[in-house]
Amino acid sequence: MFNNRIKIKELLAQEPAGQQVTVMGWVRTFRNNQFIALNDGSTNNNLQVVLELGKFPEELLKRITTSASLRAQGVIEPSLGKGQKLDLKATTIEILGDSDAEKYPLQPKKHSLEFLREKTHLRFRTNTFGAIFRVRHTLAFAVHQFFNQKGFIYLHTPIITASDAEGAGEMFRVTTLPMDGTAPKNEEGSVNYKEDFFGRSTNLTVSGQLEGELGATAFGEIYTFGPTFRAENSNTARHLAEFWMIEPEMAFCDLEDNMNLAEEFIKYIIRYAMQHNAEDMQFLDQRLFEEEKQLPPDKRSEMGLLDKLKFVVDNQFERITYTAAIDILRQSNHNKKKKFQYEITGWGMDLQSEHERYLVEKHFKKPVILSNYPAATKAFYMRQNEDGKTVAAMDILVPGIGEIAGGSQREERMDRLTTRMKEMHIPEEELWWYLDTRRFGTVPHAGFGLGFERMVQFVTGMNNIRDVIAFPRTPGSAEF
Ligand code: 4AD
Ligand code: MG
Repeated sequence: MFNNRIKIKELLAQEPAGQQVTVMGWVRTFRNNQFIALNDGSTNNNLQVVLELGKFPEELLKRITTSASLRAQGVIEPSLGKGQKLDLKATTIEILGDSDAEKYPLQPKKHSLEFLREKTHLRFRTNTFGAIFRVRHTLAFAVHQFFNQKGFIYLHTPIITASDAEGAGEMFRVTTLPMDGTAPKNEEGSVNYKEDFFGRSTNLTVSGQLEGELGATAFGEIYTFGPTFRAENSNTARHLAEFWMIEPEMAFCDLEDNMNLAEEFIKYIIRYAMQHNAEDMQFLDQRLFEEEKQLPPDKRSEMGLLDKLKFVVDNQFERITYTAAIDILRQSNHNKKKKFQYEITGWGMDLQSEHERYLVEKHFKKPVILSNYPAATKAFYMRQNEDGKTVAAMDILVPGIGEIAGGSQREERMDRLTTRMKEMHIPEEELWWYLDTRRFGTVPHAGFGLGFERMVQFVTGMNNIRDVIAFPRTPGSAEF
């Protein structure tokens, strides 16, 4: 048996002084031919492995280089040095994989996040990315825990679909037809997708919602948690071409129930990460503090990361309508001084992210749920309000990020839904299966989609979305 190791996190928690243990990991640093800082990824805390001088052959010592992997056996002892409680006094060291220190791209020093993005494949081995990805894991686990406890069914909706759930038209095509101009053509002279793999034109999903509604109208409550794809050419710190989305969908549920669930859910997963990943969260809090020290005082956050998150879980989200938001924006000094890049033209306008961020960061200074948007700015499936102008939509905005989730009560009335589809030129034939939810036992229902990476950004305090997903896909970049 090879794997008789104890993970360093467990070892440091148990403090098994006097015991014989085996650990395995990667060398972070090696000082004075005596002290190895060994990291195994279970925690940012390295284990200090102490080599008695003269006891190990020179040949072996030379191979203990940054990022070499090794197995160490020995006895746990109280540390004589500062900075750690325990040492492993090594009896045997076995190099598992050498690492050429000259060629290894990461030095045992602070690298910029931009530099590490070029070394995406190795950045997990740094403290910052160690902490981020353990927190990301914990958040994902908390998502399942939350919905499982509430009796929601985890539904795996398809990744390849023929529908465009958002009607946004920014999709990645999936095809096996040749791209060299020899693809079969139809009578009009365009590519004949009837001869493609699926016998029709298909794309990567932008959202699992429509399939999710079919699940909700049978199981009552479902959620999806999977990758979604958008071919939007937005090179921002908030957009990815491939991101993960969580989409709960609930039968017998209106917009207010939807808001209540979303708020409870967001607070639950933040609290869960703070409790179950306290050490990494502490590290990330400190990291942000150090980073913001470089900024002029007026650009720094008013609260540290942990204080901000605590404030968010302990306080109610602000809930206002789109109409009220427009009034606030119009009357703001920011608007009067013409500081918005996109002018506040009035009711009916699409809110830009600078407007959303003004509302959460400057005006309310807390998460805000905006609701009842003008129908014209929103998707076809949203429930039409009695005023004839707005739909029962909601967006959840948080400080530092802007929109983190979007959802709505769905239009469950067949006639209203099909009228709206006609207005928006969405062919009924293509969505006949979706419309069956309204034909057979339709019910009031609602749901939302939370962008998982934006959530991870919010919790870890990372400014760029590329730093919270393992291998980011953005316009012009899919290297790793
Ligand atoms: O607002 P969106 O487009 O809503 C939907 O897709 C609905 N079908 C959700 C539903 O009601 N079930 O996307 C939902 C969330 C956004 O609020 C945002 O957090 C995230 O997904 N998101 C992105 N995250 C990263 N990169 C992108 N390109 C994103 N586009 C949306
Ligand atoms: Mg949205």
